[in-house]
Amino acid sequence: MLKTISSASFWQPVLAAAAGVAFGVLLEKSRRRRTTASSSSDVVRSGIDVVVDKEQLEELVASCLRSAGTPPEKAKLVARVLVAADCRGIPSHGVNRAEMYCGELKAGLIDPTAEPTISSDSKAVANVDGNNGLGAVVSQYAMQLCIQKAKTNGIGLVVCHNSNHFGIAGFWSELALREGLIGFAFTNTSPFLVPTRACSRAGGTNPIACYCPGDGDSFQLDMATTTVPVGKVEVCHRKGQQMPHGWGVDTGGASTTKPKDVLMGGGLTPLGGLEETAGYKGYGLNMMMEILCGVLSGCTKVGPAVPPWRLDRGVAVDYGHCFMCIDPQQLLPSGNFQQSLSAYLRAMRSLPSTASSVLVPGDPEKAQEASSESGVRLNRHVALGLRSLARTLGCAVPGALRDLPEDEVPLCPHV
Ligand SMILES: NC(=O)c1ccc[n+]([C@@H]2O[C@H](COP(=O)([O-])OP(=O)(O)OC[C@H]3O[C@@H](n4cnc5c(N)ncnc54)[C@H](O)[C@@H]3O)[C@@H](O)[C@H]2O)c1
Repeated sequence: MLKTISSASFWQPVLAAAAGVAFGVLLEKSRRRRTTASSSSDVVRSGIDVVVDKEQLEELVASCLRSAGTPPEKAKLVARVLVAADCRGIPSHGVNRAEMYCGELKAGLIDPTAEPTISSDSKAVANVDGNNGLGAVVSQYAMQLCIQKAKTNGIGLVVCHNSNHFGIAGFWSELALREGLIGFAFTNTSPFLVPTRACSRAGGTNPIACYCPGDGDSFQLDMATTTVPVGKVEVCHRKGQQMPHGWGVDTGGASTTKPKDVLMGGGLTPLGGLEETAGYKGYGLNMMMEILCGVLSGCTKVGPAVPPWRLDRGVAVDYGHCFMCIDPQQLLPSGNFQQSLSAYLRAMRSLPSTASSVLVPGDPEKAQEASSESGVRLNRHVALGLRSLARTLGCAVPGALRDLPEDEVPLCPHV
C-alpha cells in the first residue's frame, strides 16, 4: 500500500535542515557580532559625555538635597550613593535621580529628617521602620545592623518597611563586602513590571545584589529582575534615543523601542523577556523580592498596590528592603572561602571566549569605577538636567556644567 506523505511530514526534515543551516549562520553571525558586545548599560552610557570632578559632583547633589530640606549629613550620604552609581557606569541610578528625590522632598512625600527605628529585634533578625525617611538613610542603618548580627551569629537578616528609593542595591552589599561578609541587598519598588501573561504593570523592577569577598577579588552581582530597570528607559528618553526591542512593551502589550511608550503606561518585561524565552523565571524572582521586602517586612502595600513613583501620588511609597549578611569565616574557619572564590572567578574569566574576554559579575562596573578616578562621566543630557535642577534650587554649579551651552533644553526623564 502506498503510504501517503502529508505535506507537513515531507517539509519537516527539509525545514529542519534549512533551520539548522540558518541557525548555524545566525550563531556565526551572532558570534561575530559579539566581538563588539554591548550590554544594556553600554546602550545607556553612549553619547556625549561631560566629565565632572567627583567631589564637586557630590557637593552639587548634596546642595540640591539640602535646598530641598535635607539635613547636611543625610544629604551627603544620598549624594554619595547617587554619584557612586555614575562612577560604576550605572547612569540610570546616578545623579539622574536627584531631580526626582528633590521633587519628592519638595512635595513633602518623604520626611528628610526621619531616623529609622527598630520595630522588632531578635538574635539574627530585625525589622526596621524607615518612618518614611530617605531610602539611603534607612538602608545604611539596616545594613550596619545586619553586619553586626552576622559578625555575632554568622548570619543576619534585616528587613525594612516604610522606606523610599535606596539607589543601587550594590552600594549596600558593598558595605558588607568591606567587612569580609557576603552581602545581599534587595528592594521592592513601584509597579513597572508587566508580569508574564498580564497586560498591565503589577510589580517593581525589584533588584537583587549579592556581593561575595574573594582574595583581592570579588563577585558583585547587582541587577534588576526586569530586563532593564526603568532608569535605563528614562536615560534613553532624556537622550532622545530609541531602546532595543525586548526591554519593554506599550499599553497594548506589544514590544516597543520608544521609551515614551514604556513610561506612558506600558511597562517592562521580566528578566528573560516573553513566556517563550522563559520570562516567567524573572517574574518569579521578581515576586520573591516582593515577598522578602514587602510582605516579610509588613509593608502596607505590596506588588500592584505599591503607589506609583510619581510626584502626584500624594502618599508615601512605603517601600520595603531586605538585607542579609553571611560570615563565611564562621562556616569555613580555615579562611578557605576567599581563596576558593578567587580561584573560581579566575577559572570563569579564563574560559575561551567569543568576545574580548569572559567576565564575571561586577567586572564591568569595577573597570568603570577605576576610570572614574579622574572624573565622573555624565551624559550631556543628564548634566543639562542637573544644571537646570541646581539653578532652580539656587545652588552653585561647578565649571564643567556651567560651560555647557545655554541654548539646549534638558529633556525631562518623565513624560
Ligand atoms: N533601587 C531601585 O529601585 C532599583 C531598581 C532596579 C535596578 N536598580 C539598580 O540598577 C542597576 C542596574 O541594573 P541592571 O539590571 O540594568 O544591571 P546590568 O544589566 O547593567 O548588570 C547586571 C549584572 O550583570 C553583570 N554583567 C554585565 N555584563 C556582564 C558580562 N558580560 N558578564 C558577566 N556579568 C556581566 C554586571 O556586573 C551586574 O552585576 C543595579 O545597580 C540595580 O541595583 C535599582
